[in-house]
Amino acid sequence: MRLIIKNNYDECSLWAANYVAYSIKSFHPTPKKPFVLGLCTGSTPLGMYQELIKMHKRGKLSFANVVTFNMDEYIGLGPKDEQSYHYFMHHNFFDHIDIPKGNIHLLNGLTKDYVKECQHYEELIKGYDKINLFIGGVGSDGHIAFNEPGSSLSSRTRVKTLTNETIEANSRFFNNDKSKVPTSVLTVGIGTITDADEVMILATGDKKARAIHHAVEGSINHMWPISILQMHQHSIIVCDDSATNELKADTVRYFKDIENKLCPSQK
Ligand code: GLP
Repeated sequence: MRLIIKNNYDECSLWAANYVAYSIKSFHPTPKKPFVLGLCTGSTPLGMYQELIKMHKRGKLSFANVVTFNMDEYIGLGPKDEQSYHYFMHHNFFDHIDIPKGNIHLLNGLTKDYVKECQHYEELIKGYDKINLFIGGVGSDGHIAFNEPGSSLSSRTRVKTLTNETIEANSRFFNNDKSKVPTSVLTVGIGTITDADEVMILATGDKKARAIHHAVEGSINHMWPISILQMHQHSIIVCDDSATNELKADTVRYFKDIENKLCPSQK
């Protein structure tokens, strides 16, 4: 695992955007061999999306040969619903870059057949072989995508019920009205995420410190879904100083030291 510790949110966003740009460019994607990117919502990735949009507008980065799969969607919300993840992604990212509409994949929260929708999503991903880079955030309870504590660590795309902690946290996007937050969602599984060649998780602010402690220093445990990153050959956590508040000073020093010693081609 790489643990990238930056001073603040903006530095995390820039590091993550540069990493995405580097990954896409070094892959040399073509229409036949596109770069497959897994994407997330939430407030944490917004700065990264803004940096990627800036790179695109400056002519430095194209998404013409990039295919995306988003992590999750609320059941019952359609693409025009401002709280839906469809709306979020188009409004905050897709509408500002050159990605062909047909390359964008999101789970359909309005489907009548959840099982079929989820199986179809898994098959679509398999059709591209695998996801090259899956980017996610993390909930304060350690969830990744909407895989709440207790989720199977080998789970696939399916329906999940949200915990009170997540409903409370996400109510800020619903005028702080918890009763408006859907209680069921469609989400890729933990197995779907960890099948990706690389997984990069963004975590900023001290609300994420407990989750980062369990991810880095805890044992692998389904009550802290993010801890599965310890089993992945290429996982990266990008966090700010505040998100390391519950790590031991030695742990922080260790990961900072490792990053400083990397040769330029490894960074
Ligand atoms: C939601 C999303 C997650 C995201 C989490 C954290 O629950 N389903 O994918 O990681 O929120 O969001 P934020 O970045 O706003 O803290």
